[in-house]
This record gives sequence, structure tokens and C-alpha cells, in this order.
Amino acid sequence: MNSRQKIKELIELREKAKLGGGLERIESQHNKGKHTARERIDILLDEGSFEEYDMFVTHRCTDFGLEEQKFLADGVVTGHGTIDGRVVYVFAQDFTVFGGSLSETHAKKICKILDQAMKVGAPVIGINDSGGARIQEGVNSLAGYAEIFERNILASGVIPQISAIFGPCAGGAVYSPALTDFIIMNDKTSYMFVTGPKVTKTVTGEKISIEDLGGPEVHASRSGVAHFVSEDEEEGLLLIRKLLSYLPQNNLEDPPLTENNDPIDRMEDDLNDVIPDDPIKPYDVTDIIHLIADEHEFLEVHQKYARNIVVGFATFGGMPVGIVANQPNYLAGVLDIEASRKAARFVRFCDAFNIPLVTLVDVPGFLPGSAQEYGGIIIHGAKLLFAYGEATVPKITITLRKSYGGAHDVMSSKQLRGDINYAWPAAEIAVMGTKGAIEILEGKNINKIDSSEEAQKYLEEKEEEYRQKFATPYEAAKYGYIDDVIEPRNTRFRIIRALRTLATKKETIPAKKHSNIPL
Ligand code: HXC
Repeated sequence: MNSRQKIKELIELREKAKLGGGLERIESQHNKGKHTARERIDILLDEGSFEEYDMFVTHRCTDFGLEEQKFLADGVVTGHGTIDGRVVYVFAQDFTVFGGSLSETHAKKICKILDQAMKVGAPVIGINDSGGARIQEGVNSLAGYAEIFERNILASGVIPQISAIFGPCAGGAVYSPALTDFIIMNDKTSYMFVTGPKVTKTVTGEKISIEDLGGPEVHASRSGVAHFVSEDEEEGLLLIRKLLSYLPQNNLEDPPLTENNDPIDRMEDDLNDVIPDDPIKPYDVTDIIHLIADEHEFLEVHQKYARNIVVGFATFGGMPVGIVANQPNYLAGVLDIEASRKAARFVRFCDAFNIPLVTLVDVPGFLPGSAQEYGGIIIHGAKLLFAYGEATVPKITITLRKSYGGAHDVMSSKQLRGDINYAWPAAEIAVMGTKGAIEILEGKNINKIDSSEEAQKYLEEKEEEYRQKFATPYEAAKYGYIDDVIEPRNTRFRIIRALRTLATKKETIPAKKHSNIPL
């Protein structure tokens, strides 16, 4: 072969690799409403930025007649490219080749991407669409998964890892996405489970559909496994681009500053009226977030899971932050097991990647009851307490209304090394709400009063006394637990100024192998 022929051969091999498992299987993929691996990468990355690795890799299995069936790239497309000009590494499983199943060589390709991303300090995005372990390869496939898991674990907290689930993701295969920072499913073709409907029926007798067992709705709202659900693949891939715009490349960098035209001193008069006069009347805390954030933009994470707490990303004066906010619109914003777990994981993510935390507090306390106690609210609530207490990123807390009891301490209080703690004038910071407190303090005295009218009058007097003392931010401000009481309409400016002031903050935790967060 002369050099021209060799170049022709290269071009032909590339074309062949790009066809994966062949035109028929590509058509079948399209008929299912799915894109191919390469089409997905094209949507995800900046145009023309993708550089593929290991296109000529094939499997090495000689059992079950597999030596006769080889496809270039072996069921996973890997490489790097850019998103908004920043380097990312990517792998996308190709369902047209053995159903995207994971062979020894397929696993090696993914490991190479993870290793390179760690050396370079760049995020990794994995697009999963796979029948799981390549059955013909047996233990080599299992070993391949474990190689990937180990790398996911070592990369955790060093580079952002994002998983898109755009097809089946079953068996032990779910654990690689589970080890990453964010999981995105789409409404049409994604499902995840450790054991599928057939095995579930055989083992437990339970009859259940794929969707009800591991569809996107279930994982977004019940299990909390999925952080985002997109309408379709395209929306999911664009969402990944958006998510990355808030994140640094790695744990040694700061998150990227962006430019926008939103004035830093934009006053929002509506905020002065947003808190209802009635302390038990709900309102939607996301309205407040939209009013104060740059360009009113907020990327909510885990939107459908544990809706009593809201977490997500926004920018203030171009600086990315993680927002954690109790949601009075759902279960009065109470802290329960799911809310504590959701917020704790988010706080730890932000802390690992140098993203400052803005916490908006309106919390009536922890949810009482046997279901919560038996479910381990003590341990789960401690997760959030631990996460806030350990976090060394700038922490700005604004108490909007209620901040009661243990939940007050947990929600980024001053004593958990909160850097700047503001309160709105409507804030109430106390051990508990007025009625509950007076029932406990005055129960015996009230029982001694014969006339019910007098008892009621006494009760009201005592409640008023308690309200005067604790249903204000000033008692806490008197001790310096609150740094300042601010006018609600000025909140945006105060947050931006606080973030700028805290930009050079340095704080550490004692040297240790790692902490022992109550898992
Ligand atoms: C080898 C596989 C495969 C697998 C699918 N294929 N899964 N090849 N190993 N695990 C092949 C099929 O033979 C077929 O080849 C092509 O991929 C497409 O599969 P279909 O069944 O035609 O597609 P579809 O009807 O869409 O069904 C998709 C599916 C089903 C639901 C994923 O294929 C399936 O149930 N596969 C097995 C899933 C499974 O049990 N995997 C092992 C899980 S245990 P042709 O040549 O016809 O195109 C596991 C352990 C991991 O993964 C442990 C990690 C610690």
C-alpha cells in the first residue's frame, strides 16, 4: 500500500467506526426516539470540538462466536471536546454495538477518559445507554465495571462528574452514575434499576412495570436518584451545558465568573411585601430566589424530590453560588429525612467545588413523628448539620421568617461558621413557635385558672410576651448571632457585597484522613 492508499484506508476505517453497529441498528435506535452516541456528543459539545480516542479498539473475546463479530470502537465513543470553550471529557455508550454492553475493552476506554480528565483537571460527562455487562465476557466485564467505579470514587470531589441516562441502565451498572455528582434522565427513554421487573417478580412476587420500577418520574420524585429530568435527549444535553456553566473545572479552581447586565444594586420592592403577615401562611421561596438572582435565573436541582427544601445554582454579580432554601409552600418548609439528605449532598458538592453557599431560612423545625424517628431522622438530620459545619466556602445566610429549634442551628447558623448572617425584619428566631412554647411553659398555670375566659386572656398575654421577645430578629441580633437586619428589597445587593467581601476567605478543617459524616 502506498501512502495515499494508507490515507484512504484510514478514512474508510473512520467511516466504518462512525457507523457503529450498522445502519439497520442506527435506524432502530432512531425509531425508538433515541440519538446515536455520536449524535449525542455533537449536541453536547461546541461545534467541531470533539476529538475521539480509541476509535479502532475492538473487543478481545473469542467465546460464543464473538470473534466473528467485531465493531470498531467496541460500543462506546470516547474523547474530549469543549463546552463554552472549556475542556470536558466525554464517553457515550453506543447501543447499536452489542446493546452498548460493557466489555473489558469498552471499560478500558472509559477508564482512559477518567484518568486523562483527572490529569488535566476537567469534568467528565458519561452518556449511558447500555444492556449492562457484556454477557459473553463474564468476569472480565464485572472487573471492567469495578475499574470504572474505583476511578469514579477517586475523581469524586476532584473533577465534576455528570451522568446522562438515555436508555437502559441496569444491574451493577447503575453504580457508576450513582457515584457521580449529577444524574440526568429523560422523560422518554431512560430507566435505571438494580434488578429489573422480571427478576423482581421471580424473587419477591411483586409485579411492576419498568416505568414504575425505575422510570424518570420515580427517580426524580421518590428515590431522588435523578437530579434532573429533561423532556428529551436534546434538552438533557443542553441542560448539562448549563449546569457546567456554574461549575469550576476542578476542585483547585474557582467557579467561572460570567458577565451579565443585571445591576448589582437592583432593588426589588416586591420583596418588602413577599412575606405574609400571618406567620403560618405559605409563600413560594423560588419567587424570592428569582427576584434576587442575576437575570432572575435559577437552575433548580432535584426539583421534584423533597420539595420542602429547594437547592440549585444561580449567579450573583456574575459569581456562581449554590442556594439552599426552605420551601414554606410544601410541608411548611419543615426539615425531614429526605430534605436533610438532599440538602446535605448539595452543600457538600458546593463545598468540594468552591461554590459559595447562600441559605434562605424559613424553617418551623424538624418533622415530628414515629415515621421520621424510625426512619433515622437523627442520623439524616445530622448529615445536613455536618455538611454545613464542615463547609469552608463562603456561607451567607438570610433568615426570611421562622428559624426554630435544632433546625435553626442546622441551617447555616452563625455557630456553624456562618460567615455573614442576615435576617429580614419578619424573622423569628426561637427555640420553638409561640403557641407550642407557651403550652409547655404555662400548661400548669393555665390549668389552675377556673374561668376559661380568664385562662384564654392569660394565655394571650403570655403569648404576646413571648412573641415580643422571640418573634423578632433582634433578640438574636443582640447577641451577634445575626450580623445585621436588612431591608428585604436590598437583599440582592447585600448578597453580592458579601460574596465580594468573602471572595478571599480562607478557612480549613483539622488535618485528618477523612471525616466520618453520619451516613
Ligand atoms: C451482550 C447484549 C446485552 C448484553 C443487549 N445485548 N444486552 N449483548 N450483553 N448485556 C445485545 C442484544 O443481543 C442485541 O444484539 C442488541 O444488544 C440489542 O438488544 P435487544 O434486546 O434487541 O434490545 P431491546 O429490545 O431494546 O432490549 C434492551 C435490553 C435487553 C432491555 C437492554 O437487551 C436486555 O435485557 N439485555 C440484557 C440486560 C442484562 O440483563 N444485562 C446484564 C445485567 S447484569 P443484536 O446483535 O441483536 O443487535 C449487569 C451486571 C453489572 O450488568 C455488574 C457491575 C458490577
